Amino acid sequence: MSEKVYPVSAEWSKRAWVDDAKYQEMYAASVRDPDAFWGEHGKRIDWIQPFTKVKNVSYAPGAVSIKWFEDGVTNVALNCVDRHLARRADQTAIIWEGDDPNESKHISYKELHAEVCRFANVLKAHGVKKGDRVTIYLPMIPEAAYAMLACARIGAIHSIVFGGFSPDSLASRIEDAASAVVITADEGLRGGRKVPLKANVDAAADKVDCLKTVLVVKRTGGSISMQPGRDVWYEEAAAKASADCPVEPMNAEDPLFLLYTSGSTGKPKGVVHTTAGYLVYASMTHQYVFDYHEGDVYWCTADVGWVTGHSYIVYGPLANGATTLMFEGIPTYPSISRFWDVVDKHKVNIFYTAPTAIRSLMGAGEEPVKKTSRASLRLLGSVGEPINPEAWEWYYRVVGDNRCPIVDTWWQTETGGILITPLPGATALKPGSATRPFFGVKPEVVDAEGKILEGACEGNLVMADSWPGQMRTVYGDHQRFMETYFSTYPNKYFTGDGCRRDSDGYYWITGRVDDVINVSGHRMGTAEVESALVAHPKVSEAAVVGYPHDIKGQGIYAYVTLMTGEEPTEALRKELVAWVRKEIGPIASPDLIQFAPGLPKTRSGKIMRRILRKIAEDEFGALGDTSTLADPTVVNDLIEHRQNKR
Ligand code: WT7
Repeated sequence: MSEKVYPVSAEWSKRAWVDDAKYQEMYAASVRDPDAFWGEHGKRIDWIQPFTKVKNVSYAPGAVSIKWFEDGVTNVALNCVDRHLARRADQTAIIWEGDDPNESKHISYKELHAEVCRFANVLKAHGVKKGDRVTIYLPMIPEAAYAMLACARIGAIHSIVFGGFSPDSLASRIEDAASAVVITADEGLRGGRKVPLKANVDAAADKVDCLKTVLVVKRTGGSISMQPGRDVWYEEAAAKASADCPVEPMNAEDPLFLLYTSGSTGKPKGVVHTTAGYLVYASMTHQYVFDYHEGDVYWCTADVGWVTGHSYIVYGPLANGATTLMFEGIPTYPSISRFWDVVDKHKVNIFYTAPTAIRSLMGAGEEPVKKTSRASLRLLGSVGEPINPEAWEWYYRVVGDNRCPIVDTWWQTETGGILITPLPGATALKPGSATRPFFGVKPEVVDAEGKILEGACEGNLVMADSWPGQMRTVYGDHQRFMETYFSTYPNKYFTGDGCRRDSDGYYWITGRVDDVINVSGHRMGTAEVESALVAHPKVSEAAVVGYPHDIKGQGIYAYVTLMTGEEPTEALRKELVAWVRKEIGPIASPDLIQFAPGLPKTRSGKIMRRILRKIAEDEFGALGDTSTLADPTVVNDLIEHRQNKR
């Protein structure tokens, strides 16, 4: 890995909220006395009733309990919308840039307030009350933000499902959350292509019992079917709704949202984030990590279907009164310069994207970037997976013209906000390193036995203590929460990531150490893809692993054993890819399928994934001990028929 260092410029250490001395001082204070530190920073949001208690956390085995600001009362919509009306009613809250470059609009805080209230009243009119779960399956249109904030306003808990998920994946999330209401659009629009959202909801609705109402936002006007008594056009309902709706007073620990995410086993779990701690943490990290200042135009290219969209398109920026850009399209449409055209069109100052996007744009060379101005850019960000130093350097040199610091932000759906990151006025950058902990964050590197490693070392990444944005539980399954995150290393939060710490105390995330893979920054459990494959009538067994992929970071490699008598044909390979897309969604498409007559198993029948991983990674020499296999000869066959990266 590159050890090149990019020091903080004098200009940056002067203009930023914190320089290095201030970082050291604030960090030390934050871990010395978390109650005092967060008691102070908890005041960054407005309270209906101020808190008197700050931190109340136990990571004790079997009794994990996480509470912040527990006796305070507030409301997230009050903080993201209403409190800005006095000073910035006419300032743009959301710049929406459509898939079609000729379509964009500015929504002021005053307009946002009216739209959120109207949406909230429509939800109320359809029986939604405090604590109810509302599933949102929308494209990247302003209504997605209105719907989220409308739920927050009335105390309903939203559960956003990414528009790329299949009807089956949507159905299981609706069912797990027992949602009576789904908000969707007729169709989505991405890269000029239509996404059949409403048709997917129709298919999902056939598989669940709890669903009563489907609110449909008109996006494309494409033809869809509406089921009387269940389906309602949002625009018609909104026309009758008042643009005034009181905020529901919420306890600090009332849930704000659920977001399903993949783990190493079982079905995706509903990560629960609550009201006050989440908002304090999302807004504070947004301010310091992106060095957000009044008047900045900020753009995070994520989708609201992922946690990045929740914390850093909607909640963090809006709590800070920022102008946040919401982009409906994709980086390559109508041309490969689209990101930079949008930056120039809206004079974006802060730009936050994923390594996979950078790597895919790198492939087209510098010219599509260099022909745009990008003079407005001041800061760049990266999130979702490790950024390889080559991509980092290209991002820095070509996109940022050697002028903009890059914040490589490490965090997870579970963490609610950024935990390890440079601060642009404080932290010298090393390409490929997420650098140092944010305030209040106590990372530790441990070995397999849980021994805490000191100094420069490599091991597994854990957190020794809580921060306000931490997830509180798995929806409906606190036991699973404790087992997943707090049982590997007692009294610590286990991230699932491996990492190295260098002699400067910088953290280098090396990727997941569990059976979770990260494909283009999208997180997937190998078990989910396996269970989709074995659901196919011609498949008897399947094992899925990740392998290094130039653009996606990791690709999906599937070993498939067919039922006796089935022929391993190219047509069947295609059929299986299409099958997985239908079962889970396009993001889960296997990149390579190897038909394997046998899988490497121990005598007790357990598949040895370590071996499969090594074969997929082309590391045949490093297979390790294969003597415990029931039939060691299967390994040679697997190596011989390894599928090649295309
Ligand atoms: C996993 C979490 C955080 C929002 C998007 C992903 C990987 C995330 C980085 C980074 C290295 C990273 C980790 C983590 N990851 N950011 N800057 N450097 N790895 O959220 O879907 O919950 O995935 O993404 O492996 O555990 P997520």
